[in-house]
Amino acid sequence: MGVFDSGLGGLSVLREIQRLLPAEHMLYYGDSGHCPYGGRSPEYILGRSAAVTQYLVQRGAKIIVVACNTATSVCIPQLRARFRVPIVAMVPAVKPAAAATRSEKIGVLATPRTVTGESLAALIREHARDTEVYPVPAPGLVELVEAGCLSGPEVEDALRPLLEPLMARGVDTVVLGCTHYPFLGNVITDLAGPDLAIIDSGEAVARQTRHVLADRGLLRSGIGEGSLELFTSGEADHVSAVASRLLGKPVTVTHVDVQP
Ligand code: DGL
Repeated sequence: MGVFDSGLGGLSVLREIQRLLPAEHMLYYGDSGHCPYGGRSPEYILGRSAAVTQYLVQRGAKIIVVACNTATSVCIPQLRARFRVPIVAMVPAVKPAAAATRSEKIGVLATPRTVTGESLAALIREHARDTEVYPVPAPGLVELVEAGCLSGPEVEDALRPLLEPLMARGVDTVVLGCTHYPFLGNVITDLAGPDLAIIDSGEAVARQTRHVLADRGLLRSGIGEGSLELFTSGEADHVSAVASRLLGKPVTVTHVDVQP
């Protein structure tokens, strides 16, 4: 199966899929050479996403997981119209957060584009009508994770001004609406304290992926061990080093250019 993101954030989704479906052969493409997608035009994001999807399908992917909230909110209908393989997309975990909060106040940390997008607004209207929802644009966090900067003063300084207003308002649950952010989860807990619940969508997307595969008779569960191949449009040595840190084991990422 193929998983992609604007960069390495999608590895937070990939690791959940691997946990749930250890027998699957995984292809991951991190578009780190063009990351972040957030400041790009919708046409650009669609162009990159379609080219990466095409590449993964050519390599034999039977399903595509768009492990990027930005690409999801910009171009999922177009990708589904263009490709025959099933396409699983990200959904920020607003619904489970609204069900879990006790203070009836939740925060949503996401990239500026996701925060202002219509899909988040629709999710909130549909699933969090009785909850106070505070969407917080978090510029710069994606770049920190891409640089391999996962803790320390720089990360704390970036997160503190985002978290403090939420804590002051009595928010008890924060949704991570960008796949890069789970890699900063420990620092968020250090800053906000253990009472803040942090919810991301990785596990739910892994379950949805299993559901779609099972539905189409495409599951490979139980037949031997799976595998993982990683590709990037970025600089292979740097991306390999950061990916190894994020996955907690040494991996090699191969540079592959894909062109729209
Ligand atoms: N990991 C991507 C996401 O979930 C980062 C977005 C970006 O590159 O702007 O949205």
